[in-house]
Amino acid sequence: MTRAATRTGRTPPGPPRSATPGLLRKLAGDRLALMTSAAEQYGDAVRMAIGPKTLYFFNHPDHAKHVLADNAAAYHKGIGLVHARRAIGDGLLTSEGELWRKQRRATQPAFQHRRIAGQAGAVAEAAGRLVDRLRAGTGGPPVNLTDEVTGLTLDVLGRTLLSEDLSRFEHIGHSFEAVQDQAMFEMVTMSAVPMWVPLPHQLRFRRARKELRRVVDRLAARRVEHGGADGDDVLSRVLASVAEEPDAAVGERRLHDELVTLLLAGHETTASTLGWAFHLLDRHPEVKERVRAEARAVLGDRAPVFEDLHALRYTAMVVDEVVRLFPPVWILPRRAQADDDVGGWSVPAGADVLVCPYTLHRHPAFWDRPDRFDPDRFDPSAAHDRPRYAYLPFGAGPRFCVGSHLGLMEAVFTLAVVTRELDLRAVPDRPVVPEPMLSLRIRGGLAVTVHPAG
Ligand code: HEM
Repeated sequence: MTRAATRTGRTPPGPPRSATPGLLRKLAGDRLALMTSAAEQYGDAVRMAIGPKTLYFFNHPDHAKHVLADNAAAYHKGIGLVHARRAIGDGLLTSEGELWRKQRRATQPAFQHRRIAGQAGAVAEAAGRLVDRLRAGTGGPPVNLTDEVTGLTLDVLGRTLLSEDLSRFEHIGHSFEAVQDQAMFEMVTMSAVPMWVPLPHQLRFRRARKELRRVVDRLAARRVEHGGADGDDVLSRVLASVAEEPDAAVGERRLHDELVTLLLAGHETTASTLGWAFHLLDRHPEVKERVRAEARAVLGDRAPVFEDLHALRYTAMVVDEVVRLFPPVWILPRRAQADDDVGGWSVPAGADVLVCPYTLHRHPAFWDRPDRFDPDRFDPSAAHDRPRYAYLPFGAGPRFCVGSHLGLMEAVFTLAVVTRELDLRAVPDRPVVPEPMLSLRIRGGLAVTVHPAG
């Protein structure tokens, strides 16, 4: 139910309209700095008029709770995601209303605890393959770890969601990159450039879209050959769900959009988590040693199994802290469907509303020394008095991440087995710069050299 529309509140403070050119430059350049300085300068509710758009940026846990959970029915996905839709279609991440409910109902069971437990073996094997690949580069030139962990997360998704080995489709990683770039371009230009304009990245995107359609068609055809929608992985569930569409063409487009969305949402975010995790371990050798010691104590020299997740407690705390400092989904954009009142601030219908996990996770009122990397702040045996909605790495409310358990298991297992076996050292003097795209990437990837673990 949408809460009653109200326009009783005040208008949030913010930069004057004359600041638009500067804001636009920052929006295209350093979006994290823009959000951070807006929160520092104006507080927990900021109104930013940028050209014809007015953004309402809320940076308080109560505001986040209201927009994402309590009054979620009054909001749709917003700026960026609505534009990214032109690139990734109407999958679970971008759809609304009845279509979203149908998609969520169809896929959610495949991510339940029981299914995830059964996927631990596939995750552990993929982590083992990553260790082997990295080990082959011991003592050699730097490797781009971001590419490696992206390969790992696609590998895991292929095996867990589709029961397929995606490495057979060798261009798939590049195709997803092209889709991401296009989605980001759509965001920045607010879809003002028609798709037929032959800009190099639009041409690349069109090729990628064709390639992904080919992959999805082949996956679906193979599955139909081998018993269709009988299994209980995501592919079977989506196939069964789209078979109910009266119009076959609609069903075909849904199949494509849903699989592309799941693969994109599921691999970029986890790869970003792992990239930042290895960067932070490199900067904090004492944390790296504790992760290594825990992996050796809990696992010995065997591969992890689902039951180890509880015992790898410190490694899980490290992952929690990594996604606090560098939340892969750094911004949660929404569009108000009706007038609303957010903590006493007026939001008109149609307004673009932003909740930003990146700034919320560093809010000095809720986090002690927020910029410090300190996994112990997530020690489950210690008392915490921070509000629940001060920490939103997986979002909140009905649009909460469907793959959170899978993503966390992947991150914990991979960090544990790689650190147990190898010592990854960042190439000195190469700056590690956050790049807030659809997910929060490391610009150019993380370059490391590989050494045997001590
Ligand atoms: C550490 C890894 C991950 C992080 C940090 C993450 C984060 C998030 C966040 C913050 C949202 C909410 C977006 C919003 O409200 O606008 C989300 C949604 C979503 N995530 Fe994840 N995610 C991760 C892993 C995964 C995995 C492994 C999958 C598996 C396929 C996945 C699939 C999705 C989907 C489909 C949605 C949209 C759900 C909906 O709107 O109903 N994610 N994710």
